[in-house]
This record gives sequence, C-alpha cells and structure tokens, in this order.
Amino acid sequence: MHLTIIAGARPNFVKIAPIIHAIESHNANSKDRIDYSLVHTGQHYDDAMSEVFFSDLMIPKPTINLQVGSGSQAKQTAKIMIAFEEYILENTTDCLIVVGDVNSTMACSIVAKKIGIKVAHVEGGLRSKDMSMPEEINRLLTDSITDYFFTTSKLADHNLIKEGVGQEQIFMVGNTMIDSLVSSYDRFKQPAGLGEFLEGKYFLLTLHRPSNVDGIELLAEMLSTIDDMAQGDEKILFPIHPRTKAQLSKNVEFKNIDFLPPLPYLEFLYLMRGAKAIITDSGGIQEESTYLKVPCLTLRENTERPETISVGSNLLIGKDMSLLKHSLDTIRTGEWKKGGIPDLWDGKAAIRIIAKLNQLLSATN
Ligand code: UD1
Repeated sequence: MHLTIIAGARPNFVKIAPIIHAIESHNANSKDRIDYSLVHTGQHYDDAMSEVFFSDLMIPKPTINLQVGSGSQAKQTAKIMIAFEEYILENTTDCLIVVGDVNSTMACSIVAKKIGIKVAHVEGGLRSKDMSMPEEINRLLTDSITDYFFTTSKLADHNLIKEGVGQEQIFMVGNTMIDSLVSSYDRFKQPAGLGEFLEGKYFLLTLHRPSNVDGIELLAEMLSTIDDMAQGDEKILFPIHPRTKAQLSKNVEFKNIDFLPPLPYLEFLYLMRGAKAIITDSGGIQEESTYLKVPCLTLRENTERPETISVGSNLLIGKDMSLLKHSLDTIRTGEWKKGGIPDLWDGKAAIRIIAKLNQLLSATN
C-alpha cells in the first residue's frame, strides 16, 4: 500500500509529523508495509516557516518540494495544482492524505480526486461559516470530494452529516496537532536571549489573518491598544509572521511589545506553555492552548473550533478591545475558567488514522 502525504504551510508540518511517525511505527511492528511519499508544495519556503519545523518535529526530508512559493489566492492554488498534477501522474498512490485548510490542502485534493485517487482529509468537518476566510472555502471544497474524514470533534462529525456525508466515511480520531504537542512536550526549549526574568510575566501574541493584518490602520491601532494594556513589568512577546511584518513600517515602536522572528516549534510551544495568556487569531493555537490550559483570547469573530470555547480555555474577543482588557484583568486575578481537554485529544490520533486507513484500503484493494 502506498500513501501520499501533502504539506505546504507551517501548521501542516505539525499535523503530518505524527502521521509519518505512525506509519514508521506500523512498519517496524507489522509484516505488511505501508509505503509513503511526502510532497511539500513549497507554499511556505522561509527556513523559519518550514525547514526548522522538519528538524524540530523529526520529519524526514520530503520526497519532492514543488517550490510554488507565494502568490495571490488563485495564482498560488493554480501553481500547486499544475505542479502536483505533473508529479502525481508519474507517481501514483492508493490514497492522498491532506491535513487542515490551507491552499495546498484544497489544490492537491482536487487534482488527486480528478484522476481517481482516494482522498483522506485529516481535520475534516471544521466550519467557521465565515466565507470571507480563504480557509473556509478550502475546507468546504476539500470536504465535498473527500472519501475518508478523520475528525477532531463530534461537532465536526455533525457538520459533515448535515452536509450529506455518510456516517461510514467519518472517523473521529482526535487531533494530530495535539499528538505533536504531547510527543514534544519534554523537548520544549527556551528561546535564546529571552531571560528567565520573563517567566510568568508575559502575554504571547500572534496575528496573521488577512482580516486583522492586511489593513495597516487597523493593525497599528490594535497593536497600540494591546501595548497600552500591559501593566507593571508585563511584556507582550510577538513572534511576527512574514505577512504581518510586511505591513508594519520599520519605524513603529511600542513600549511593551517585543517583536521576535517566527519561532521554531519547540521554542514557540515553550513560550505558549509559560504565558499568562495567549492573544491570537490562529486556529491551531486555540487548540494547543486548550490542551495546555493556558487562557486564549482569540481576535476573531468566529471559530471553526468551538470546543476550545465550550470545553477549553478559549474566548472569542473579535475586535472588542474593552472585552480584551476585561479578560486580561480576569486572568491576572486568577479567575479565568479552568478549561478541560476535548475527547480523544490524547496524543494518539495519528496511530488511529493509520490503523483505520490500513483497514479501509486493504479492503478496497
Ligand atoms: C497560510 C494559510 C493559513 C495558515 C497560515 C499559517 C492559506 C489560504 N492560508 O497563510 O491558513 O494559518 O499559512 O502561517 O493557505 N511568506 C514569506 N515566507 C514564507 C511564507 C509566506 O515571506 O515562507 C509571506 C509572503 O509574502 C506571502 C505571505 O507571507 O505572500 C502570505 O503567505 P501565504 O502562504 O499566502 O499565506 P499565509 O498568510 O502564511
């Protein structure tokens, strides 16, 4: 049996690492081998956004890097489709595994499905119902042609059933992003140059959604409001995504915000674990902070991961800066909700995925 795994952008690397490790552990313990290829589309290409994740998460070198790079939504999607079609026509496979909701996920699924290859979507069924997000369009299009759905929550299962997907195609397995967190927990690493004096005294900030960062006025206003919220010796650590950095002029300065480059996985998770709270517009960080039980304040109007609110430590802030301020006060006085961990977010999702795929594909071959 042969599987082709797709990864293109930073959060994908975190989700595919445990899948590859589960295949390797299957092969070490079983007579029937599963072969795999890893296709890196090259959507993210900076070392800090890609290479370092391969070493931190012990992911083997990709079989091929399609080197598509950046571009408008259509250009990037089209470049991925053309390059991936050329590759997959020469290197067919029994099943394509795509993860998450980035352009690479959607583009490669469409190509594979059109040439008759089965598609498995890890993290299928998430819905924000916000059609202004490119990721929501990617989720809907990918799921409309997916054969096997590996989901992170019951709610995702319900979303798929409502859209007419058969129950027999849906497998709730847990969360591969949490698999990576669990298996790396003891290796989290303090970033060089950040003194211990910061321990427990900082908020961690990440912002990269087009709706927050693509307008410089809104971005600058949000940052200066957040900057003013720090009290005493509190700091706001802000590892800055290239998309966000491109918006900010060189001259912007803030009293309490420390700008950092995009961080390696193990260093970012170290900072997340030790933060007073996380302020973010990321999807994956809402899940990781839930697992770590660190308060998470999400600067979005909606989330495709509602269990991080109903079960976890997350709250939607939107653009309501007075709610943000009030939330920070609640966190400072230790009154933030404790939060729990959603079902099956136990570090074993990828093992379940590989066992199930092996069973499904053996039956169809
Ligand atoms: C992409 C995903 C988003 C995910 C995010 C994680 C889509 C639609 N979006 O958003 O879901 O949360 O990755 O980071 O797939 N750039 C670099 N170096 C890089 C990569 C990007 O400088 O290695 C810059 C380029 O100027 C590029 C911009 O960042 O134009 C945006 O990159 P892109 O891949 O288009 O989307 P992201 O915003 O990173």
